[in-house]
Amino acid sequence: MKTLTAALILAAAATAAGAQPIEARLDVTQDAAGPRIEPTVYGHFVEHAGTGVYGGLWVGPESAIPNTRGWRNDVVQALKHIGVPVMRWPGGCFADDYDWRDGIGDPAQRPVRRNRWWGGLESNRVGTHEFMDFAEQLGSEVYISGNMGSMPPRAAAQWLDYMTADDASTLAQERRRNGRDKPWKVKYFGVGNESFGCGGNMSPEHQADMHNQYATFLWSSTRVASGDGEGDDRRVEVLMQRSAKQMDALTLHYYSVPDNWTKHGDATGFDAGAWARTLKAALGIEKRIDALSAIMDKHDPAKRVALYVDEWGTWYDTPAGASALWQQNSLRDALVAAVTFNVFHAHTDRVKMANIAQMVNVLQSMALTDGPRMVLTPTYYAFDLYRPFKGATPLKATLQAPAFRTGDVELPTVQVSAARGTDGKLVLALVNLHPERAARVATNLSAAVTGRVLTGAAMDAHNTFEQPQAVVPAAFSAKPGSQGLVLALPPRSVVVVEMQAPR
Ligand code: AHR
Repeated sequence: MKTLTAALILAAAATAAGAQPIEARLDVTQDAAGPRIEPTVYGHFVEHAGTGVYGGLWVGPESAIPNTRGWRNDVVQALKHIGVPVMRWPGGCFADDYDWRDGIGDPAQRPVRRNRWWGGLESNRVGTHEFMDFAEQLGSEVYISGNMGSMPPRAAAQWLDYMTADDASTLAQERRRNGRDKPWKVKYFGVGNESFGCGGNMSPEHQADMHNQYATFLWSSTRVASGDGEGDDRRVEVLMQRSAKQMDALTLHYYSVPDNWTKHGDATGFDAGAWARTLKAALGIEKRIDALSAIMDKHDPAKRVALYVDEWGTWYDTPAGASALWQQNSLRDALVAAVTFNVFHAHTDRVKMANIAQMVNVLQSMALTDGPRMVLTPTYYAFDLYRPFKGATPLKATLQAPAFRTGDVELPTVQVSAARGTDGKLVLALVNLHPERAARVATNLSAAVTGRVLTGAAMDAHNTFEQPQAVVPAAFSAKPGSQGLVLALPPRSVVVVEMQAPR
């Protein structure tokens, strides 16, 4: 691995851009800024869409592609490395059109259905038993997304019983006959998805009443109410007013789109304007978290109900001929992930889970596959860099950094997060959002740091099957000098470092 030192970074950036580095100042305290960063904030989302499951994760036990009971070994191994604390499945919009009974029993007898939202046919080859096996291979908690849009409450309750009953009930016996003796643990159960849209086009009042009805029969799991995804404060208000007692968490969906929902924008080959608009959109998640938290605080001042951002990430145009929701993933996506993590760290009082959309081959994914080939994305490496933040306690920190403009978009040049890791180390994440200028961050710290930096040769640098190492982390270190510890951030970069002693 290459090692980037402060002097090298600043010299290279100044020569390349002919510009002096941006000067910033960071002061970190030892005071906690909130409760711990739940590891589940680094959660994932798997939907039956495009090649997100079939091909991307599941190839079947008969496949020549190395697999364990059907799940590809290359992807499982990569995911285990970053750690998957929780996975949401089977949708998304797919969930509200899914009958769990289609996915159990003899695979040869399972019905084939239309995938109403994402096109093509759903073989149901991957159902409950297969997904639970995948979760066990990864060591992940499961977050089952239940159907409130098109199945009765009894179906949801029976699915939960089928998975979790440890008695002589008919459903538990059926599960045993289908090959699983021990019950599974289902820690989280979603009561519908996007009930404002694909989950049933319900008014807030109707959804709240439906939620209460369904949740009544799902008390053995953490009950997650589908919340906002279109900037609708009123829905959240109504849900909190009418249903707070029947929920343990409420969701927010937040996608970052460079242009608009008709023409999203391209995943690569974009200009500095699209870079800036995408990062601006990503930073905008904080406003939604603030707005939802304020409503939740009114109805739930004790903060019993958590906020789960159970779909987030970038959404670009799908290239012609690609599978549904497929998109390339560039350095820009890694920065979107990093600034989003930093926002989550600043809101640990409510944000207890987040699930990036989605795991493989769909939207902002960890990996892309093509037959036997797999490549890890810059977003994967952002998750990798941020591993020390899982379970860490966020610390109060003050950053003074100038803003920069691209057209009419203003962005901070630098964004940071500081925390005390579970091992006692100080961990810092710093993002330089400027696409061309390095940043020099002076700090009040006076010990050496080591860690990694993620950057690339261009804003849209990305990994391909032919060049899988175009965007990979490099070692990063810095030692305190006469002015204390100064961190040199390359242009368009994410740096995560750790320090043994706080000062
Ligand atoms: O992640 C893709 C889709 O986005 C999900 O199915 C849906 O919940 C959201 O609109």
